[in-house]
Amino acid sequence: MTKENIIRTDMGAMRGDGVAAHPVLCLGIESSCDETSAAIVDSNRNILSHIIYSQIPEHQKYGGVVPELAARAHILAIDAVINQTLAAAGKTIADIDVIAATAGPGLIGGVLVGWMAATGIAQSTGKPLVAVNHLEGHALVPRLHAAAANGTDENTSVAFPYLLMLASGGHCQILLVRGVGKYELIGQTLDDSAGEAFDKVSKMLNLGYPGGPVVDNRAKSGNPNAFKFPRPLCDKPGCDFSFSGIKTAARTFLEKNPGPHSDEFINDFCASFQASVVDCIINRLGNAMRDVRVHSAAPKTLVVAGGVAKNSAIRAAMEKLAAAHGMVFAAPPMNLCTDNGAMIAWAGLENYAVGRIVREPIAPRPRWPLTEL
Ligand code: KG4
Ligand code: ZN
Repeated sequence: MTKENIIRTDMGAMRGDGVAAHPVLCLGIESSCDETSAAIVDSNRNILSHIIYSQIPEHQKYGGVVPELAARAHILAIDAVINQTLAAAGKTIADIDVIAATAGPGLIGGVLVGWMAATGIAQSTGKPLVAVNHLEGHALVPRLHAAAANGTDENTSVAFPYLLMLASGGHCQILLVRGVGKYELIGQTLDDSAGEAFDKVSKMLNLGYPGGPVVDNRAKSGNPNAFKFPRPLCDKPGCDFSFSGIKTAARTFLEKNPGPHSDEFINDFCASFQASVVDCIINRLGNAMRDVRVHSAAPKTLVVAGGVAKNSAIRAAMEKLAAAHGMVFAAPPMNLCTDNGAMIAWAGLENYAVGRIVREPIAPRPRWPLTEL
């Protein structure tokens, strides 16, 4: 593990409401994709320590995550990441009350590494173990800590129920989050995820991996009306997404215009592509908001989570949409959007609080829809 790979160590102070004198301490472990991460979070919403070992430099030369390399890198990093997380918090394993780890969905080789480490710690110490669904980690982290769209740290925590746009590299769903383990699927992608679309368009333009941050950045200097990309399904009722048509339109255009491309062209292309993704998200969410208004417990908060929630244009457009519907907008702080151990520790605490702990051996799952919780 090199120093550059460790991209964050958070210490202390994220205190929310309802402070308990003896908070429950959870060690959370995440290893489902290309981050090996661990965090210690307490039930008073403090992140005591947080280590994220990013494998991105190792996968960059292949233009995407190579599952076998990821699994091996997790094996090499996991012990050091856990030990450093404990040391950074000034804790030993004896101080921890609950162990939580991602048990799916994700790249199964990596999930197994984190899950076996957590199982080993729990079995050898007799501490309770929580099998966290990775998507539930993304879905619940705005309850640990939420920030405003403009990035200011408002130190808020989102209450149930809320309408969630969950957009990551592997998933794209609109969910009504009623409580821990209570997810109602309102809409989902019929093909690619939003993150995948960003990553593929970035690859076509030779902008590298992961594509989201670089496309987002390039789009800031581009004209969103320079190129006309499709808005799949936007002329149809419902809340489902389709991104493969946008990707195909991008590929076809680039095949006809192979370059070399100027910076201006690339910026305009990124801005126009991103505008089509934003429009699709806002169109589908608009329908979802009308649908959920008929529910007896209608949500008052619109939330975005997952790696794509880092996108500045999506955050801004969703904040505007929420205001137009009389709802509050919330998003995790940037560093809790992409995969991280703190969201797994927090989901571990939330599950532990309602008694959802592992009582007999379970097998990690490469596929594990939130609606099956
Ligand atoms: O949640 P995440 O870390 O991993 C999965 O669970 O899949 O999400 C990673 C995805 C990648 O596709 C990445 O390109 C995307 O999040 N992403 C972004 C941005 N930052 C990361 N997409 C759009 N704009 C961004 N600023
Ligand atoms: Zn994720």
